[in-house]
Amino acid sequence: MKKVRVWDLPVRLFHWALAVLIVAAVVTQNIGGNAMEWHFRAGYSILALLAFRIVWGLIGPRYARFSSFIYGPSTIVGYVRGGKEALKRKYLGHNPLGSLSVFALLGAVLAQAVSGLYANDDIASEGPLVKFISKDLSDQITWFHKDVSATLIYILVAMHILAIIFYHVRRRQNLVKPMLTGDHEVDFDAVPANDSWGMRLLAAVILALCAAAVYWLISLPPRGMM
Ligand code: HEM
Ligand code: HEM
Repeated sequence: MKKVRVWDLPVRLFHWALAVLIVAAVVTQNIGGNAMEWHFRAGYSILALLAFRIVWGLIGPRYARFSSFIYGPSTIVGYVRGGKEALKRKYLGHNPLGSLSVFALLGAVLAQAVSGLYANDDIASEGPLVKFISKDLSDQITWFHKDVSATLIYILVAMHILAIIFYHVRRRQNLVKPMLTGDHEVDFDAVPANDSWGMRLLAAVILALCAAAVYWLISLPPRGMM
């Protein structure tokens, strides 16, 4: 067996930071009151992370790139129907079914974080972009934030974790270890992802730019004061 670097450090840090921040956003929202300040901060950090992941999906290393895990319907159906046979094709990055869940998770979390910017709690907290829209629209977006995208995230995260348990138990494939160490162990030759310090530095610069863009967005002055 040989080790092949599949998940570069930036993707791994992105993943675990995203998971921790989502839990933090849900917990702080449940505590309410002053903790809402931290709910907002968790949300802004998630926005910056997602913006980073979108850029990284376009220019990042091989397995992180979206083009490496966008599959057509026939490949997905073939993968599902193929059962154990399909596994033999050894998809090193996200497999055809897993890729659907990755895009759904990224989309749902993005919808959640963006809708949060326009949400209000009718008491003390309102997102930084509420000032640009009517109260009615903000209320509708709040409903979406609380009841639609949040529910979707719960369902998708539950499916995500069940799928990982399924691969572990039924297919004897540990997907979590590579998300921690970066490496998959395979018995064939495969091209590793570029996880050099140069790429890591580039990722850090992109993340800093994404954080600056989010900061700019949430600091916009109300209309008329620009
Ligand atoms: C709020 C919680 C979570 C969210 C939102 C989440 C989201 C994601 C996303 C977006 C990806 C794709 C990574 C990328 O290419 O950028 C991913 C992959 C992955 N996640 Fe999570 N995750 C969560 C929790 C967890 C937990 C608790 C585990 C471990 C038990 C886990 C294990 C994995 C693994 C192993 C992969 C790689 C799957 C593969 O090999 O295709 N995730 N997750
Ligand atoms: C992906 C990140 C986020 C997650 C997972 C998340 C999750 C949630 C959840 C679960 C609720 C409560 C639903 C309920 O009361 O049943 C909520 C409420 C709320 N969120 Fe977020 N949120 C996120 C981002 C944001 C952001 C960025 C903002 C604003 C800057 C925001 C502002 C609010 C407000 C104002 C409420 C209160 C609504 C109310 O109680 O009526 N959220 N969020």
